[in-house]
Amino acid sequence: MKIILLGPPGAGKGTQAKSISNKYSIPHISTGDIFRKNISEKTPLGIEAKSYIDKGQLVPDKLTIDIVQDRLEHEDCKNGFLLDGYPRTVSQAEALKNFLNEKGEKLDTALLIDVQKEFIIDRMTGRRVCPDCGASYHVRFNPTKVEGKCDICGSVVIQRADDTESTVKDRLDVYETQTQPLIEYYKNQGLLSTVDGTQSIDDVFKDICGVLGAINSDNN
Ligand code: AP5
Ligand code: MG
Ligand code: ZN
Repeated sequence: MKIILLGPPGAGKGTQAKSISNKYSIPHISTGDIFRKNISEKTPLGIEAKSYIDKGQLVPDKLTIDIVQDRLEHEDCKNGFLLDGYPRTVSQAEALKNFLNEKGEKLDTALLIDVQKEFIIDRMTGRRVCPDCGASYHVRFNPTKVEGKCDICGSVVIQRADDTESTVKDRLDVYETQTQPLIEYYKNQGLLSTVDGTQSIDDVFKDICGVLGAINSDNN
């Protein structure tokens, strides 16, 4: 399966990506996680990306496109992949399409996790993330089993630097102007599928499995 996840900040892309990636045995590729890892390791990429991410702006297309294309060349992407947070602009979407075309491949679906603005601030300000494995929690909606410790790897969970209320507002504006047009873009290509992201985490996953199961059986 070759899947991209669409949805506003806080829609639950990262949360659902972990489960989808396990179920379909495809790598979960999150551009946000790649940037954050580089930021914590203070690489040149991390230093450049940080200046945009801290302001809630997008990292420039050229840089982002190259990183994703390198990652998609890895052996583990042979049988598919799950992209979380990419593409985020029409040029990134076009670059992905051309990249796959050249290999005679195409996306199976662009899966939109649909969540209205009203839910977002609450979700983001209560979010805690694992700096080591990328798992995402919420102090009320999805708490860790042991307070402050990641369920998967035991590391101390932290708050993301861009999860302040004012940066979240900027990220939402950026989403609306630059990323939301991709919904129409993929709808026009007959690739869009949508799930209601305001349900419980388990119910969203059930809907996703329904959508992906139907696409998978069409392919076989
Ligand atoms: P990125 O890390 O991708 O951030 P984002 O898109 O803003 O999305 P989030 O990770 O904030 O939300 P999510 O949908 O993954 O939600 P989560 O599952 O954690 O990008 C960060 C930055 O990097 C960007 O701003 C940009 O600067 C840069 N960047 C990244 N990709 C780029 C690209 N392609 N081009 C250019 N720049 C790029 O859930 C959120 C919270 O809600 C959690 O606490 C979770 O527990 C909770 N939750 C999840 N689902 C539910 C539910 N159903 N009910 C209740 N709570 C829930
Ligand atoms: Mg995420
Ligand atoms: Zn962890």
